[in-house]
Amino acid sequence: MEESTKPPDRFVQELMDESRERAERLADRYYSDEYFDRLGGPEATVAAEFPAFAWKEFYFGLLPPVRQIDLIYRRGDPYYDDRDLIVGLGTQIRDEIKHARIFSNLAAGFGIDADMATWDAPNHPEGYYDALVEAGYAGADHEEPHHVAAGFQCSTEIGAAFQIRNLADYLDAEYPNVANSLRDVVADEGDHTHAGRLVAKRFATSDDYGTMRELSNAKFDSIEAGMRLAFENAGEA
Ligand SMILES: [Fe+2]
Ligand SMILES: [Fe+2]
Repeated sequence: MEESTKPPDRFVQELMDESRERAERLADRYYSDEYFDRLGGPEATVAAEFPAFAWKEFYFGLLPPVRQIDLIYRRGDPYYDDRDLIVGLGTQIRDEIKHARIFSNLAAGFGIDADMATWDAPNHPEGYYDALVEAGYAGADHEEPHHVAAGFQCSTEIGAAFQIRNLADYLDAEYPNVANSLRDVVADEGDHTHAGRLVAKRFATSDDYGTMRELSNAKFDSIEAGMRLAFENAGEA
C-alpha cells in the first residue's frame, strides 16, 4: 500500500514496529554486557549509568509529555474528547518522575550522587552531557503533539525499555534486588508507548507521515550518537 493512503493507525503501528527493531538493535549493540564490562563491571556500571538513567527518565521522560499536554490544551479538546490523552500523559509524567527517583535512590545506595539539579555526567566522556541535552531538545521542541510522539513514545522511548532490560540482566547475578527494581521500571513502559500511540493516531493525517518518519529517524540518530560516544570511550572518563 502506498504510504500516503494508509490510515493513521496503520502508519503509526508500522512506525512503532520499525522503531522496536531499531531500538533493540541499538541497545544490544551499545548498551550491552560488552559496554558494561568496558565501564569496569557492575559497580562502575551503577556509578556511571544509574545517575545517567535518572537524568534521562526525568528530562527525556518528563518534558515531551508536558509539551504534549500543553499542545493538546491549545489544539485539542482537553476537557472532553481528548481527556483520555491527558490522563495517559499525566500518568506517564508521574511514572517518569518515579523512575528517576528509583534510579537516584539505587545510586545513593551505592554512595553515588545523582542530584538531578546538578548532575552533569562526571563519569562519562567529554561531550556526553551535551549530547544528552541535544537529544532532549530533539524530543520536545515541536509544535504538534503527534510530532512529539513520533520522536518519543512511538520511537526512541521504546529503546529505554530494552536498555533497562539489558542493565537488569547484567546486574542480576550480583544484585538481584536491584535487577528486580529495574524490571519494575520496564513494566511501566508499555503504558507510555500506548499513551503516545493514542496521541499519534488522534492527530496525525497522511500529510504528516513524512515529517513523523523524519522526526523518528533524527531522534534515533541523535540517541545513537550519544550511545556510540559512550560505548567507544567507556572506561576513559
Ligand atoms: Fe521511564
Ligand atoms: Fe517511559
